[in-house]
Amino acid sequence: MFRQEPVGKNVVKVCCTLSCALSGSKELHGHICKKLGVDAKAYGLQTSKDGQFSIEFVECLASCGTAPVMMCNDDFYEGVTLEQADEILESQK
Ligand code: FES
Repeated sequence: MFRQEPVGKNVVKVCCTLSCALSGSKELHGHICKKLGVDAKAYGLQTSKDGQFSIEFVECLASCGTAPVMMCNDDFYEGVTLEQADEILESQK
């Protein structure tokens, strides 16, 4: 994907589509945004001030049956809890 703005060292994508939305992806996205110090309500890619992470709320990541799902760089995570999201972010530092 081509980007028109700089991105963080790690790129996190959280699915916002129906199955994930019904399984708490908005809460998951908000939790990660809060942890990174970025605005969860802003549109598009948000990057933390330290440049370590960028996050975006994206359309279906094609694993609707295991919602909520997220990606961190090329790694895919299913049925992600808030605690698991914290661990995923920590593992990238
Ligand atoms: S709705 Fe989230 S992966 Fe399809």
